[in-house]
Amino acid sequence: MGLFFRPLPEWLPGSSSSSLQITTSGECRLFDVEIIRILFLFFFVVFEIAFLSFAVFVLASGFISQAKGAPYVPLPKKSIKNILKFAEIENGGDFYDLGSGDGRVLIEAVKNFRVKRAVGYEISPWPYWKSRFLIRYQNLKEKIDIFKEDFQNSDLREADSVFLYLYPEAVKKLIPKFKEELAFGSRIISASFPIDESGKLDLKLIKTGKIDRFNLFLYEKI
Ligand SMILES: C[S@@+](CC[C@H](N)C(=O)[O-])C[C@H]1O[C@@H](n2cnc3c(N)ncnc32)[C@H](O)[C@@H]1O
Repeated sequence: MGLFFRPLPEWLPGSSSSSLQITTSGECRLFDVEIIRILFLFFFVVFEIAFLSFAVFVLASGFISQAKGAPYVPLPKKSIKNILKFAEIENGGDFYDLGSGDGRVLIEAVKNFRVKRAVGYEISPWPYWKSRFLIRYQNLKEKIDIFKEDFQNSDLREADSVFLYLYPEAVKKLIPKFKEELAFGSRIISASFPIDESGKLDLKLIKTGKIDRFNLFLYEKI
């Protein structure tokens, strides 16, 4: 003998037999088990595929960053304000971050340091798209441009300040660009490593400092 709860509507697949049936013995018989099982499997597989694709995307991004010049290791948010204070960027000029990660340095520069325009170059897909999202979310699109490009292809002629948080070898490769494109009086802030000046860069070291665990070097093109 069976007791029926709420028969399912006709239009549902298998509705003629699809209802929860509880027998007097307390045994619960689910006629829709098959549909539920298929739905569950479907969502599980979709979730797994999405999760795996995202993991592959993030991993591949990590490899690209590493291969191109520096891993994606963003500066801690709490250090950025003091680093930018050290960099003396409050001159209303154009601020560049070569290897801009998720855009946090550019965002801070625009929000709290009155730079006229902030420009980032980021080669790796995951931080690039994250920065695009964060900039759009904070309505800063008018003031920040991010290019998904190798910073070797950047155009630095308009830059007043250039921020670098990269491996020394990557910075070394940028030296010819600095020589050729940077205007006199423009500044470079390098976090963690000094710039190897053996290539006669025509840079004057203005000051050095340390904020949190980051050694900082501020140069001016002469
Ligand atoms: C150490 S992270 C710094 C991120 C950001 N500037 C910050 O301070 O939070 C270095 C970034 O440079 C990017 N990068 C490395 N080589 C690059 C290249 N050749 N062109 C553009 N971006 C590059 C990496 O993908 C990574 O996001």
